[in-house]
Amino acid sequence: MPRVLILGGARTPFVRAGTDLAELDVLDLARAATAEALARTEIDVGQIDEVIFGNVARPVAYHNIALGNADVVVAGGSESLTNVPLTLTPRLARGLIAASQAKSLPAKARSLADVRASDIAPVAPGIRETSTGLTMGESAERMAAINTISREDQDAWALRSHRLAAAGWDDGRLGREVGPVYVDGHAVTADNHIRRDSTAEKLASLRPVFDREHGTITAGNASPLTDGAAAVLLASEGRARALGLKPLAAVRSYAYAAVDPADQLLIAPAYAIPIALSRAGLTLDDIDLFEMHEAFAAQVLSTLAVLEQNGVGRVPVEKVNVMGGSIALGHPFGATGARIVLTLANEMHRRGARYGLATACAAGGNGAAIILERAT
Ligand SMILES: CC(C)(COP(=O)(O)OP(=O)(O)OC[C@H]1O[C@@H](n2cnc3c(N)ncnc32)[C@H](O)[C@@H]1OP(=O)(O)O)[C@@H](O)C(=O)NCCC(=O)NCCS
Repeated sequence: MPRVLILGGARTPFVRAGTDLAELDVLDLARAATAEALARTEIDVGQIDEVIFGNVARPVAYHNIALGNADVVVAGGSESLTNVPLTLTPRLARGLIAASQAKSLPAKARSLADVRASDIAPVAPGIRETSTGLTMGESAERMAAINTISREDQDAWALRSHRLAAAGWDDGRLGREVGPVYVDGHAVTADNHIRRDSTAEKLASLRPVFDREHGTITAGNASPLTDGAAAVLLASEGRARALGLKPLAAVRSYAYAAVDPADQLLIAPAYAIPIALSRAGLTLDDIDLFEMHEAFAAQVLSTLAVLEQNGVGRVPVEKVNVMGGSIALGHPFGATGARIVLTLANEMHRRGARYGLATACAAGGNGAAIILERAT
């Protein structure tokens, strides 16, 4: 099978929901990231065999190239958590549908007879796991308790994320993966959630959000609701060479794993990692750089703890998220996978690293791990 190369990519700035990119929907954001990724790799758009965007299914771009179905693929994701559709209560929704189908005015009125005043308000979207009804934050609280992850350790991880992300912007490493997005003639050029003024004392003073009485998760040690998009360009080694395009990295292996969502919803990367390592013929010690999605500090720390408990090994924290992670950079759900692969590939290329590993957790108890290797 041909090696699958990562040629490059780009992302929009990641900004807090309801701020600079609030006027743009997911398609605008996806277009901005894709156009920037294509412009940077200077590839002729006629060469693109497939564009895979979003994160609803698992359309593995890698396999389409490895099996020869495609040579150049754009893979990315986009999210506008500002523009999440509001829903109606089931009773109001059923009433409105029945009313729209009723033939007469009295029949229409009868269809809505059961609707109560409390049904009139739209239902705010919740980030809930459908199988358990628990929010992501409540599930992460459960993980913190099971793995005895202290509030202090979570806050320290969050502070580290903000400090490293600020340093990544200051020395230009993060800025180079971001393209501008124009809103009303104004260019949005930078992530806007990184808190340079954050301190351990300020973080310690924040109140828990998801379990107000006994909880440890706060606005400070959770990823924020974010708008943004990211796109990565993949190509077969043969096509990249023929077009004279230089890769950032190559895909060595990947794996998915899943756990019971009622147990530890966001722990599955700890199970995907050993599978990806075994498929690559590598061990944790071979990995030079790790890019782990930070849904919550408690979730990253739980993943590291379970990897150690299960004998997979100890991940040296100084190799993890060397330019911060989703807590500081933000987490536009659909875009984070492409963002972490792009960040990892760029930093591996810059350092001349041999192997890098990226992970992400997801609803449904799912987890993903991908191993990249140096490509020249
Ligand atoms: C946790 C959450 C509810 C917080 O939302 P929020 O209340 O809008 O958060 P804010 O950013 O306004 O922060 C609240 C306060 O904490 C402070 N704060 C947050 N992070 C801080 C930091 N790192 N340092 C110092 N202060 C901080 C803010 O300044 C703010 O203080 P103020 O009220 O005095 O202005 C929201 O971000 C959330 O739902 N996150 C989870 C998303 C999720 O589930 N993702 C799925 C992962 S798979």
